[in-house]
Amino acid sequence: MSNQKVVLITGASSGVGQSTAGLLSHNGYNVFGTSRNPAAAVGIPNVKMLPLDVTSDDSVAACVKAVANDTGRIDVLVNNAAYELAGALEEISIEEAKAQFETNFFGVVRMVKAVLPYMRQQKQGRIINVSSLSGVSSIPFMGIYSASKFALEGYTDALRMEIKPFNIYVSLTEAGFLKTPMMNKRQVSAAQLEEYDLRRRRAFIAIRDQEQKAPGAELVSQTILRIITSNKPRLRYLIGTQAKVATRLQRFLPEAAYEWGKRSTFKLDK
Ligand SMILES: NC(=O)c1ccc[n+]([C@@H]2O[C@H](COP(=O)([O-])OP(=O)(O)OC[C@H]3O[C@@H](n4cnc5c(N)ncnc54)[C@H](OP(=O)(O)O)[C@@H]3O)[C@@H](O)[C@H]2O)c1
Repeated sequence: MSNQKVVLITGASSGVGQSTAGLLSHNGYNVFGTSRNPAAAVGIPNVKMLPLDVTSDDSVAACVKAVANDTGRIDVLVNNAAYELAGALEEISIEEAKAQFETNFFGVVRMVKAVLPYMRQQKQGRIINVSSLSGVSSIPFMGIYSASKFALEGYTDALRMEIKPFNIYVSLTEAGFLKTPMMNKRQVSAAQLEEYDLRRRRAFIAIRDQEQKAPGAELVSQTILRIITSNKPRLRYLIGTQAKVATRLQRFLPEAAYEWGKRSTFKLDK
């Protein structure tokens, strides 16, 4: 059996997942990527694409089984698949909010439950949960998306303590805005209340401006490679200037001053 490390990356058809699959494959890993529609995904050299919808128990089980049947092991899981739901919290329906959690949070929970038996048997493994700066500091008008990342942070914190005795490490990546195709797929709540129109519009423009000048997906991929090659990966990896500066300000500024800065960033009071 090959001693090439086996990596499974959810959502490798685009953005961070695609960039990470390419980088890891280039660095000698045996990489499996996923898409809900793998036939339509752009091919990445030496990366096998599998079908996966993280909202489905059956799809998750089939995907993990396919990797294990092919290689006999799963060394690294990168939980990257997600989408963004935007809109004022009053506008977002319970169904829209549940769907957001079903992908961004329960999708990770499903994947972790499916790979852990293999990793425990191997007595080693790495899980990387792709979170965000919005998992430690919410974005207005993207509150449910932010909440799904906050949930992921709390879940990962506890998971880390439970699985470390099995020599399995779980880490979080926390990047600020990135320039990826995600910004063009953002879902907006079906309902819109005119009372929020002005601020919602201003916040969406501010978010778009930040994304346009943001770094690309490679910033996160390089950190994921660093986590995988580290002997003892940390719990949290802040990525990029925006995430590092914002979390420092959040920590050291008085709460009201930090909130004022955020309101001004997202043009809520102008
Ligand atoms: N973009 C940013 O500003 C930013 C900043 C910080 C953190 N992040 C995080 O980085 C990660 C990747 O984001 P990205 O910007 O690279 O987004 P992206 O380009 O939109 O890629 C998202 C990936 O998730 C997959 N996906 C979506 N729903 C899925 C589902 N139900 N089941 C399986 N796969 C699904 C998509 O694959 P298919 O559609 O082919 O199935 C796609 O490959 C996300 O966790 C995101 O929250 C993004």
